[in-house]
Amino acid sequence: MAEIRIRSTNERISGEENVRAFLDKQEVLYEHWDAAKLPAELQNKFVLNDEEKATVLSTYDSEIRDLAARRGYQIWDVITLSDATPNIEDLLKKFEQIHTHTEDEIRGIVSGRGIFIIKGDEQTGYFDVELEAGDVISVPENKAHFFTLMDNREIIAVRLFIEKDGWVANNIEDPSFA
Ligand SMILES: [Fe+2]
Repeated sequence: MAEIRIRSTNERISGEENVRAFLDKQEVLYEHWDAAKLPAELQNKFVLNDEEKATVLSTYDSEIRDLAARRGYQIWDVITLSDATPNIEDLLKKFEQIHTHTEDEIRGIVSGRGIFIIKGDEQTGYFDVELEAGDVISVPENKAHFFTLMDNREIIAVRLFIEKDGWVANNIEDPSFA
């Protein structure tokens, strides 16, 4: 279950109802998939071949199509990141820049962990959303954010897009980030 950390105060918010209420207020979509649906042989495997990625997508096909029908996504894929990913250090440096997109950025975490750092309303400022398997999150369009891995540095996520180009990152400098 996702957990929130408000960066300015270090306050933590946990428990599904509290997390959902906080994210609702910040206009961040938060839903849940059943992480136990992932076939056992893919649990804790972070280097996937094309066939295994297709298995991930077919495992969550009804959840993906439900989101797509509600929110207009047209295409989806599977991303895997771990220390085995070529150029992982360079990739993470790229990911860790504050940016916006013209589309929302939606991820269904299938395995492993990750963090979205998102700019909330003026009173809240930046907050971390620590995600684990089963968490589904959508950062709204034009909301400043970035993504990084947690200490275990392993994740598999489903990404959904309205158009592939809508996801291009516009990097921004934000002096209020802390
Ligand atoms: Fe992004």
